[in-house]
Amino acid sequence: MTEKAMARNIYLGEVSRNEEVRPDFFLMKIRLPAQFERPLPGQFVMVRVAGLQDPFLSRPLSIYACKQGPRFCTIELLYRVAGKGTRILAGLIPGSQVELSGPLGTGYRVDRTKKNIVLIAGGIGIAPLSLLVRELRRRSCRAADAMTVYLGARTETALVGLDALRQSCSRIIVCTDDGTLGEKAPVTKAFQRDLPKYNPADTALYACGPKPMIRSLAGLLNDQYFCQVSLEERMACGVGACAGCVVAVKDASGNKAYRRVCADGPVFELKDILWE
Ligand SMILES: Cc1cc2nc3c(=O)[nH]c(=O)nc-3n(C[C@H](O)[C@H](O)[C@H](O)COP(=O)(O)OP(=O)(O)OC[C@H]3O[C@@H](n4cnc5c(N)ncnc54)[C@H](O)[C@@H]3O)c2cc1C
Ligand code: FES
Repeated sequence: MTEKAMARNIYLGEVSRNEEVRPDFFLMKIRLPAQFERPLPGQFVMVRVAGLQDPFLSRPLSIYACKQGPRFCTIELLYRVAGKGTRILAGLIPGSQVELSGPLGTGYRVDRTKKNIVLIAGGIGIAPLSLLVRELRRRSCRAADAMTVYLGARTETALVGLDALRQSCSRIIVCTDDGTLGEKAPVTKAFQRDLPKYNPADTALYACGPKPMIRSLAGLLNDQYFCQVSLEERMACGVGACAGCVVAVKDASGNKAYRRVCADGPVFELKDILWE
């Protein structure tokens, strides 16, 4: 790798595993140089097949897991086939090379003073939250008792990451829209039912999922809650240069401002987001 590429955190990685874990959901393991920085939960990579010109743009994927060794760093990406870019990634076999930049963006800020840690994941939103769960466990053995995860998906076959999650967290409330596993309800409904248990002073909330889920959370929580959410927007450059991924927020003075999801986020305080 050239020094210039390293300075921009661009790496060539080798796919060591790429397996369909559920219909249309894949787990990809990528071996990277040891210099790949330790990611914060919530950070992401921009990834594309090395040398492929179509699609030209890299796709943003959250870092699901990361293991650093003396010679290599291995990251895992958990992704859903959504369109052309992810379908091409899904076709890669072990030994394929990917071009990847990262870790990018901001991560979740862990507040260890809170008694309750509540994570709310919709669908593939479990990817960045799983890294957060592992990080919380790594930092404190108390985290296992403090944590509750609300995990929702359309249907049982779209519930990914659950088995791995069970190894780190004992309180998981599963919801599916069609009732094929867990409660038949949107994940925000299950959370709303339990909300009176979570006092704002004692609770840190972390969420990731489709926009309607995040929006519905915003309708449930008052500004006293510490709630950080990871947003998804279509991205072109991924590094703050094109302004293609802006969202409207309240700035520190309460005025409307625009922030780039890739560089200023993807993690934002829920209370700062303006829903237009
Ligand atoms: C910070 C960040 C982290 C992400 N992490 C993950 C992850 O861990 N796993 C995962 O499966 N997906 C993740 N995504 C979403 C993923 O980037 C998109 O699904 C992917 O870029 C789609 O590319 P495509 O070429 O396959 O589909 P396209 O052909 O580009 O699009 C297919 C469909 O997906 C929609 N779409 C495209 N990009 C996005 C996007 N960024 N957000 C929402 N909808 C989109 C399009 O509007 C279209 O309807 C993340 C997105 C962001 C911004
Ligand atoms: S994708 Fe270019 S500024 Fe965010």
